[in-house]
Amino acid sequence: MSSRESLPVPFFDWRALYAERADAYSRIISDTAAMGGFILQGAVDAFEIGLEAYLDAGHAIGLSNGTDAMLLGLRASGLKAGAEVILPAHCFIAAAQAIHFAGGRPIPVECSPDDGLISPEAVEAAITPATGAIMVVHVNGRVCAMDQILEIASLHRLPVFEDAAQALGARLNHRPAGRFGAWGAFSFYPSKTLGSFGDAGALVTDDEDLARRVKAMRNHGSGPDKVIPADCAEWGTNARIDNIQAAILAYKLNWYDETIARRREIAARYDAALRDLEPLELPPSLDAEPGRFDIFQNYEVRCDRRDELRAHLLAHGVGTIVQWGGVALHQFRGLGFDQRLPLADRWAARSLLLPMNHLLSDGQVDRTIDAVRRFFA
Ligand SMILES: Cc1ncc(COP(=O)(O)O)c(C=O)c1O
Repeated sequence: MSSRESLPVPFFDWRALYAERADAYSRIISDTAAMGGFILQGAVDAFEIGLEAYLDAGHAIGLSNGTDAMLLGLRASGLKAGAEVILPAHCFIAAAQAIHFAGGRPIPVECSPDDGLISPEAVEAAITPATGAIMVVHVNGRVCAMDQILEIASLHRLPVFEDAAQALGARLNHRPAGRFGAWGAFSFYPSKTLGSFGDAGALVTDDEDLARRVKAMRNHGSGPDKVIPADCAEWGTNARIDNIQAAILAYKLNWYDETIARRREIAARYDAALRDLEPLELPPSLDAEPGRFDIFQNYEVRCDRRDELRAHLLAHGVGTIVQWGGVALHQFRGLGFDQRLPLADRWAARSLLLPMNHLLSDGQVDRTIDAVRRFFA
């Protein structure tokens, strides 16, 4: 059997990410290096301005990664020590880690059986006097049920924070992910829809004071002149985005919508070819709900025989991934979680990511479809 990297349809072809525009990327990297502008120089400003324009946001702050974006966002929002933060069980552990490191207590809740996103009813049921915030996670590039969640939050006077690491450009009723709550955190990990060539992230907000605090915190508490003033009153850390990543991201943002369009095209192709397979559950179709614009960071299917399907696809040259190792957040008992969440358990046990990124050819998508159909034949 071929190695995963050399499969006819690898789950993700890391080399292709650079190869697609190697000349332009090489030029950007060498120009940035030749200028000697490595840290918090012009490219960071350019990327932040580009991201603000893309999301129509007051402030975008480039950071070291998406996890740090959440950590700084939580700290700058004044999360109280021991405050409970409600988040979905079907999510990456990063959001819970950021809550923990910010001094809060992550409280995982159930996901909706339709799309796996945080259930508004479960959020409401989990609110206690100790609740300090709600953290939604727009998993797979689909915006959570924000109308209901914002209503619940306003009723209980709770701030909403957004882990939008998988959802840059996803929208609900024209409003982009990351623009519903007090702030949104984004990740530009290489395999993300907007991927850097290393680690990078950003926090987006309209709150000027929050933005100023996060900017200071990312650079040891410094002011706009990057010097730490003698009367510094802000604890900070090093959570800076580096210039080369910012320069790459600023460039990629120029044609980002094209890459999203290609992902949506692939999702439509999977949908048309696989929707009739009854044992297989697919993500909602592109036009299933007016006002939604999903960007398909992932194409997550579900079935009872998930592990068999995965082995079959591998034998047919198609790489897949079990997102987050098939472990839902509350299943990390060693981290102190003790919730019983059967819907999230079921989701984690049945979910599989099919290949999904803008670099896939139609031939690769069709080969994947063919292999899936053969499994269920
Ligand atoms: C949903 C989600 N949240 C947070 C993160 C963390 O982002 P980063 O790796 O940039 O810290 C990721 C990235 O894998 C993610 O998918």
